[in-house]
Amino acid sequence: MIVINNLTKTFTRKNKKEKKKEKIVAVDHINLKINKGEIFGLIGPNGAGKTTTIKMLSTLILPDEGSMSVNGFDVVKDAEKVRNNLGVLAGEFTRALYWRLSGKQNLKFFANLRNMWDADERIDELIELFGLKEQENELIMKYSTGMKHKLALAVALLNDPPILFLDEPLTGIDPVTSFQLKNLIKDEFQDKTIIWASHNLYEIEEMCDRIALINDGKIVLEGSPEELKKKLWDYEKIVIVTDNTDAFTNINDVEIKNNVVEIKTKDVTNTLLGITNIVQKKNIRVEEIKTLRPTLEEIFMAGVKK
Ligand SMILES: Nc1ncnc2c1ncn2[C@@H]1O[C@H](COP(=O)(O)OP(=O)(O)OP(=O)(O)O)[C@@H](O)[C@H]1O
Ligand SMILES: [Mg+2]
Repeated sequence: MIVINNLTKTFTRKNKKEKKKEKIVAVDHINLKINKGEIFGLIGPNGAGKTTTIKMLSTLILPDEGSMSVNGFDVVKDAEKVRNNLGVLAGEFTRALYWRLSGKQNLKFFANLRNMWDADERIDELIELFGLKEQENELIMKYSTGMKHKLALAVALLNDPPILFLDEPLTGIDPVTSFQLKNLIKDEFQDKTIIWASHNLYEIEEMCDRIALINDGKIVLEGSPEELKKKLWDYEKIVIVTDNTDAFTNINDVEIKNNVVEIKTKDVTNTLLGITNIVQKKNIRVEEIKTLRPTLEEIFMAGVKK
């Protein structure tokens, strides 16, 4: 659905101190294939190149090198057709709304911009979907951040595009609104292909089928959260909290610190059986036992480490 080949973008920035221009390679030969119906997460430190990638894919800025296609259309040569397939929330997207218009008027305005002259039904449908009915006639300068996010998403969805680019769609909104929007996206957008950039790794793990970690404009890791976890640790950790740590000293790959026993194992079932045996035979009191896998945060840290 989305194919990116060798995508590159360099910005020049004036360095006032040294009075010369410096080059910043914001996106550095990125290759990606995103399948239909997939939610694809983009993660990476500040300045990694996520927004620049989304802006190029959205036809908002031109690449220096490489090519991209969206739903079969070349993003540079067929920009108009690409735009017709897209809904985009990028950069400071709520600023794109007209603060002196009501929510409903904003939707009408943007529908007209897209040559949708008979959009009343669609607009009502979106207002309903996002729960904005009560405030539809209020000026959006009075809207909360969460409501502005909902309205911006409604605008992006006006022409029911098959593809959505969401750059930090939930940043700055409260947990209840986030929860509503995530559920709405899960329930209503199943057929849509989505690129989702965020710093919230829980949100990324919950929402995305696959993810790419970008660092300094380059993709350093790519795969499903599950695949990336397996790549980072080809084992799992079993952690036991007990006062009788001595009973576990003979297990393979064990580390004991204070009252915590940590065992690395590739065969969790067998190791757990072994532990149960020890616990029963020696009649040990175990406070807590849990199995650990790496978090997306650990994967992120490992990926950006130089
Ligand atoms: N219009 C521009 N002119 C000059 N430099 C730019 C411009 N836009 C982006 N950059 C630079 O390109 C690099 C990548 O920025 P980008 O906004 O794509 O990062 P990001 O991954 O979205 O970061 P964040 O997580 O902070 O949103 C940064 O070094 C940024 O300063
Ligand atoms: Mg960004």
